[in-house]
Amino acid sequence: MNDALSTFSVRGGRPLKGEITVRGAKNLVSKAMVAALLGEGPSVLRSVPDIRDVQIVGELLKVHGVKIERDVVGGVIRMDPSNVEKAHVVDIDAHAGSSRIPILFCGPLLHRLGEAIIPDLGGCRIGDRPINYHLDVLRNFGAVVDKRELGIYITAPNGLKGTKIHLEYPSVGATEQVLLTAVRAEGVTELTNAAVEPEIEDLIAVLQKMGAIISLQTDRTITIEGVERLGGYEHVALPDRIEAASWACAALVTQGDVFVRGASQKEMATFLNIFRKVGGGMDITEAGIRFFHPGTPLKAIAVETDVHPGFMTDWQQPLVVALTQAEGISIVHETVYENRLGFTEALNDMGARIQVYRECLGGSRCRFGRRNFNHSAVISGPKDLHGAEITVPDLRGGFSYLIAALGAEGVSKIHGIDLIDRGYESFREKLTALGAEFWED
Ligand code: EPU
Repeated sequence: MNDALSTFSVRGGRPLKGEITVRGAKNLVSKAMVAALLGEGPSVLRSVPDIRDVQIVGELLKVHGVKIERDVVGGVIRMDPSNVEKAHVVDIDAHAGSSRIPILFCGPLLHRLGEAIIPDLGGCRIGDRPINYHLDVLRNFGAVVDKRELGIYITAPNGLKGTKIHLEYPSVGATEQVLLTAVRAEGVTELTNAAVEPEIEDLIAVLQKMGAIISLQTDRTITIEGVERLGGYEHVALPDRIEAASWACAALVTQGDVFVRGASQKEMATFLNIFRKVGGGMDITEAGIRFFHPGTPLKAIAVETDVHPGFMTDWQQPLVVALTQAEGISIVHETVYENRLGFTEALNDMGARIQVYRECLGGSRCRFGRRNFNHSAVISGPKDLHGAEITVPDLRGGFSYLIAALGAEGVSKIHGIDLIDRGYESFREKLTALGAEFWED
């Protein structure tokens, strides 16, 4: 990620108190926008947050001829794909920035135009993040993948045909790739070992509204019966459970009390169990969830990240900051990304005591176990945090630094804060509403 490094200063030590609202999940909204490409008529998506990833996908749709109308404040986006056209790889590259979303345009573009081009892909630096599963999936449907100098050129000379696919790991992106390709492929597709994240279920709901026939079994099998044509959809995006959990951890670390309007219990059940075990206070209502520090010491825990319904990897980084304030030794085993604990070094500079290990600690052995990845963390607490100068490493790590800075004594200078705009809507306004003290240099 090459964002210009702006500096954001935070004076920590004030409890965050008040109310904020979360809107649609970044990791559904971006995919639902791609799905609009498959329809013959316009689609309308609601509860769309004002984040940079939405802007990026909107620009990518536009370079492919999709007409976009957006009400940013109301959170409504209308997409008309009546005139989908080929785009230049240079334009795709220019708009994609560091996003990995272009890979998901492949299935829909193959159906609409018979070809797709993908530039070099970015994404947060939280592991190698390869695209081998995606390319294998596309080949399974009959696509031909040609690696060229400017990117990857994909065609389907004989059309896309339903197939049987087994994922060696329940990858979110690869599952979405299958869904977005299979819905209009000829015949039936059976996907086993699929990811079943709530955002994927919501994408299935979107596709069903468009006319797709998809069934999800309890054993991670998804069956898709291809149809010839799809229409548009109208859909309200499910709430962002990563953003909600991030603010929950911020409430805990700052000894605060935050009502997260829009937070939804069902999608957050696993996080809520861990939050309670750590000793966090919560009131769950229909309108949202209040997260607060109960005034009694927080408790150490052992937790490992996993695919849904496990504890999600994107909750791990904010939780680690909260665990620096818990009494005793906590263990966190990261099993989804091999390199998502690098951010702990800067927390140690702020006074935390976190050691990382190559071994699988505190749970089952994972696929990173016998390799050279520091993917388990041992956190000793409670430790007082103090201000420091830090640089945002990735989206979730960046928000976690912000949480640490808010809970630390003194001033922290955070470089590269703009990265947080990719996935946290109006976080500056929300910080102000919660009484944080910060300024931008
Ligand atoms: N993987 C491969 N090959 C592939 C694809 C993935 O080896 O072709 C590996 C990855 O390297 C990783 C694992 O499979 O070790 C899981 O990756 P997955 O495909 O599930 O992740 P993703 O689809 O690239 C989405 C979210 C991530 C979130 C993960 C896991 C979006 C845009 N991104 O990524 O969100 O962490 O699922 O839930 O939906 C974020 O929001 O900050 C973020 C990183």
